[in-house]
Amino acid sequence: MFQLKEGVYWAGYIDWNLRNFHGYSTPSGSTYNSYLIVDEKPTLIDAVKHYGFEENLARIKEIIDPAKIRYIISNHTEMDHSGTIDKLLKYCPNAEVVCSPKGAEELKKHFKSNWKFKVVNTGDVLDIGKRKLSFLLMPMVHWPDSMATYSSEDKILFPNDAFGQHYASSERYADQVGLDTVWLEAAKYYANIVLPYGSQVLKVLEAAAKLDFDCIAPSHGLIWRRKQDIEKILSLYKRWASHETDNRVTIVYDTMWKSTEMMANKLFQGLDMANIPVKLMNLQVSQLADIVTEIMYSKFVFFGTPILNNRMLPTMASLLMYIKGLKTKNRYAFTFGSYGWATVGFKEFEESIKEAGFELLREGCYLNFVPEEEELNKLQDVIALVKGKIG
Ligand code: FEO
Repeated sequence: MFQLKEGVYWAGYIDWNLRNFHGYSTPSGSTYNSYLIVDEKPTLIDAVKHYGFEENLARIKEIIDPAKIRYIISNHTEMDHSGTIDKLLKYCPNAEVVCSPKGAEELKKHFKSNWKFKVVNTGDVLDIGKRKLSFLLMPMVHWPDSMATYSSEDKILFPNDAFGQHYASSERYADQVGLDTVWLEAAKYYANIVLPYGSQVLKVLEAAAKLDFDCIAPSHGLIWRRKQDIEKILSLYKRWASHETDNRVTIVYDTMWKSTEMMANKLFQGLDMANIPVKLMNLQVSQLADIVTEIMYSKFVFFGTPILNNRMLPTMASLLMYIKGLKTKNRYAFTFGSYGWATVGFKEFEESIKEAGFELLREGCYLNFVPEEEELNKLQDVIALVKGKIG
């Protein structure tokens, strides 16, 4: 059993085999973190995904008789954290389910049952003995019901999905694992799950700054305990929520007969020669979740597609639909591609990119069938534009 602080245990489930979380690629697996606080009124913070039930229950049983649990706090209704509460309640007949007002509505919709609910709002206190737990509602970070639980006695913030990462590990602390990987997974998590809700994240950060904690225990992945890591993840969230970017370029493209790829390669070479950080991502082999993580960091995104049936390729349309939902801001785009006999599809392509929140650097570059070298050289103009924006 793993104890974070005296009387505070991790009782979660490690999902080693998870490779896809509702469409988001998770090559490192994940965990569903469930925390048990042993006090006069034992309290469980969050449960796990349905197939982790037995492991969650076994970990609880190692620590106490589940019948002694008085509260099950559901910080967030999504089924990766609440999917086992109904089963758990059979072992915890004395437990009340603590959640936000929206949480109660959503849990009733999911489970169609009338559990004993205790509905809490920001600032409410739950007296569990030595500890007085309090709550911070976090609407839209990333569901309407989301909230954080705070234990001032333990100085632990339990913010559910916020500050988490999809990362399976037998270690529990971020500093016990190669940190580069953890930061990458934390960024990918933000880009794919939290990115649309920047203004709400900024409000949560402001409220959290008033709390005294030395440990952030999210519901996925590793726990942040080192001062420098806590400061860094808070400051990264502020940066990501503010849509701050780096002076770098992501080139993302698909290709049919390599003409659009020739253009992508030419752009890459020009940017690389100009010492502008650039990443080349082919939609045929790159995961959408990885592409949007790169885009989160990039001030400039170059999108390339050939035309098929008067449209952009479906892979590009799928990416743009995904980005539109993520509500990116403060980024420049450039469009390019190859066509055979009609350019009409590029208009829709450009419109989709503008709708996804990008400002076009200039009109796109579209070349007929297989580009000549002098046509490819025209792409140099856009590199000068990028340089001008970087200053
Ligand atoms: Fe990890 Fe929004 O559930």
